[in-house]
Amino acid sequence: MPSLNDIRSTFLDYFAKNDHEVVASSPLVPRNDPTLMFVNSGMVQFKNLFTGLEHRDYTRATTSQKCVRAGGKHNDLDNVGYTARHHTFFEMLGNFSFGDYFKEDAIPYAWELLTKGFDIDPKRMLVTIYHTDDEAAEIWKKTGVPEDRIIRIATSDNFWQMGPTGPCGPCTEIFYDHGEHIPGGPPGSPDEDGDRFIEIWNIVFMQNEQFEDGSMKALDMQSIDTGMGLERIGALLQGKHDNYDTDLMRALIEASAHATSSDPDGPGNVHHRVIADHLRSTSFLIADGVMPSNEGRGYVLRRIMRRAMRHGALLGAQDPLMHRLVPALVGQMGQAYPELGRAQALIEETLRLEETRFRQTLDRGLTLLDEALAGLPDGAELPGEEAFKLYDTYGFPLDLTQDALREKGRSVDVAGFDAAMEAQKAKARAAWAGSGEAADAGHWFDIAERTGATEFLGYDTEVAEGQIVAIVQDGAPVERFEGPGEAWIVLNQTPFYGEAGGQVGDTGHMTNLENRDVVGAVADTKRFAGGAVFGHLTRLESGALAVGGSVHLTVDHARRGQIRANHSATHLLHEALRQALGSHVAQRGSLNAPDRLRFDFSHSKALSLEELARVEAEVNAYIRQNAPVETRIMTPDEARGIGAQALFGEKYGDEVRVVSMGRAETGKGVDGATYSIELCGGTHVTRTGDIGTFVTLGDSASSAGVRRIEALTGDAAFQYLAGQDHRLAEAALTLKAQPQEVPERIRALLDERKALMAEVAELRRKVAMGGGGDGGAEARDVGGVAFVAQTLSGVSGRDLPSLIDAHKARLGTGAVLLIAEADGKAAVAAGVTDDLTGTVSAVDLVRAAVEALGGKGGGGRPDLAQGGAKDAEKADAAIAAVETLLGELS
Ligand code: SER
Repeated sequence: MPSLNDIRSTFLDYFAKNDHEVVASSPLVPRNDPTLMFVNSGMVQFKNLFTGLEHRDYTRATTSQKCVRAGGKHNDLDNVGYTARHHTFFEMLGNFSFGDYFKEDAIPYAWELLTKGFDIDPKRMLVTIYHTDDEAAEIWKKTGVPEDRIIRIATSDNFWQMGPTGPCGPCTEIFYDHGEHIPGGPPGSPDEDGDRFIEIWNIVFMQNEQFEDGSMKALDMQSIDTGMGLERIGALLQGKHDNYDTDLMRALIEASAHATSSDPDGPGNVHHRVIADHLRSTSFLIADGVMPSNEGRGYVLRRIMRRAMRHGALLGAQDPLMHRLVPALVGQMGQAYPELGRAQALIEETLRLEETRFRQTLDRGLTLLDEALAGLPDGAELPGEEAFKLYDTYGFPLDLTQDALREKGRSVDVAGFDAAMEAQKAKARAAWAGSGEAADAGHWFDIAERTGATEFLGYDTEVAEGQIVAIVQDGAPVERFEGPGEAWIVLNQTPFYGEAGGQVGDTGHMTNLENRDVVGAVADTKRFAGGAVFGHLTRLESGALAVGGSVHLTVDHARRGQIRANHSATHLLHEALRQALGSHVAQRGSLNAPDRLRFDFSHSKALSLEELARVEAEVNAYIRQNAPVETRIMTPDEARGIGAQALFGEKYGDEVRVVSMGRAETGKGVDGATYSIELCGGTHVTRTGDIGTFVTLGDSASSAGVRRIEALTGDAAFQYLAGQDHRLAEAALTLKAQPQEVPERIRALLDERKALMAEVAELRRKVAMGGGGDGGAEARDVGGVAFVAQTLSGVSGRDLPSLIDAHKARLGTGAVLLIAEADGKAAVAAGVTDDLTGTVSAVDLVRAAVEALGGKGGGGRPDLAQGGAKDAEKADAAIAAVETLLGELS
């Protein structure tokens, strides 16, 4: 008997053999369809290939697609567990042609696989076609299905549409007859809803596109979209009537029974079925990035989780149950869907956390429900306010209350529930109106209230579609905005990161899906209304964007990559600083921009070069380790418990995102195993190696007791280092040395320079003293006093006193006058040997010289005086003047 895993492989292998590309399932959160809550069929990821908007390098594909139907239109949640074929999660096997083959091949392919590949008796099958599709009827006949088993259907059952708009076309469905012993009629008959004839495969002939205005146009190309539920075909091939009796579902049911020490087929069977199904949907949703919350997709996840958790409690499980079943699921499905294994820890923690918290209110809520029912007349509906109270106070989603009442044959007044919910929202709105925050940005709070929080898809993708839910232009909400101009666009979902936690907002572009020529440039993304709503600052040159329209969103990939690298490097830097400087290091602020990172931290003194080098080397060592970067969700207390670094003074919600990276070397890291663990909502690299290189630009003071390190990563770091290398190479070339010899060479040159300077000074002095010999300038006798007078060039005033001393020493007794011209100025110095200062003062001599040079003043001591003048043009006159004065004095 083939297992579900075998059947999946057989299907994919068959189409791979027929030249189909085996394409991986797309994530459950649709990136290319903002109107859809979850991917609910195989064609969703190919939507734009059918309409010709997108092209890939294959025209035939086959998939096994994860699907969830639990929110919005296709909501099977209520029935799940109680019926044979309802699931919140299922797998859809499909083959697709994008303008390649059409009906004439799609029908024989399906028939061959069913009758030969799966060996199903052709006589047990019949098919339906759209009533006007003679072509399909002909092909079926040619393929071997007799006319009496080809049923024409005139209703929309055989005209498939993905939604109110989009690709569509007539379809043909294949049914299996489970036999006369089961009640039910063939499709199209009055009792077709019975269980005897079960649809197993739907083949859609994609040939039209439905538009918003109601018109339908023929597509340029004819395509194929097929869908076969794995669980149904699995039941059929395993000879079961109930999908929950297939091997895979049975393994999960048994895991649930084992974990609760109960009988899988006993009275708790329905609980096990609910748990088995919900384990699949919740685990796959978490693996695809959905987190339980009170809005949107996160709320659907929470509803499913809590419904399962109540059934777990009904089985008598004392402790949280769901997370203990995850290994069984990974064992069954981890090979076909590797993302499940990769996210196992995240799935387990998320389930455990939710169940732990929900159990705190579950019992009290159920007691309240019983009390409310006891006070009501037999069979009466539960009033809406009671259901709302359970929701509001005890975290009971409405369908959980309905599920609990179903067992008692009771129902809820849904309209009353909705009214109570509305009343509470109105009260919250009124409270906002009175708060200061609302006065600042009232319209953003209105938008948040009207549209709910923006769903951020950007942890997993940089490309997605979104629906415009609001536009704010010039500070006021508008319905539509036209280019040229600029406005804030709010979308229901977005891959753009809104600036937060030091990480700058994303940039990129958005394309109007109704008119692809209209492309807006997203210059920035910010968060409003307390972070709930993301605004995309969008510039439009021409065309228009309007509320309700859909846009294709593309984040600037290269820029985001640099931001990721810088953000992850900041985490490594934080830990490296703690390791190098001590545990007092705490983050005080940060900036994660595309071109650089900045990290402010508490530390009172500058880092030494050695410390900085150590930090830099450590960060790079963890980059080279190339360990995966992991994200988990936990309570703030748990996060603190494992040593996660949190931003001081920051307020955190009930659940926090915890980012870990690096395998700690011995004695390092926060918990001895992981190097860095931080609370963080930002986007990060997948592996530390993606950071590339890390280089610091140095440390500086940011404010009292806070240091700041700026650094570069990736290409910017490389460019910086390469630039330094280049300059070093240039220096080496100039010095005719090897680069590594440059510092030593420069030191040697500086020493040499110092020695040369001293030598030059000595030589100058010698020159001044008379040409380098020991004769010196000739002394004349002036009234019995030996007098030396000299005009010098290239000697500064600073050097004159030592020259005067040298002359005096040589003369033994006498007077000296030196006039030096340098730097466009004349310096004058006069000296008198001590034995003569009683009769001649150097001060008088200097003053006479200065005056003759056209200057004024001069001063010093009787044995040495100095002065200055504009130039030494009249040096001879000055010497003569001094000589005259000397003659008079002596
Ligand atoms: N899109 C079709 C369906 O969901 C066939 O895959 O039934």
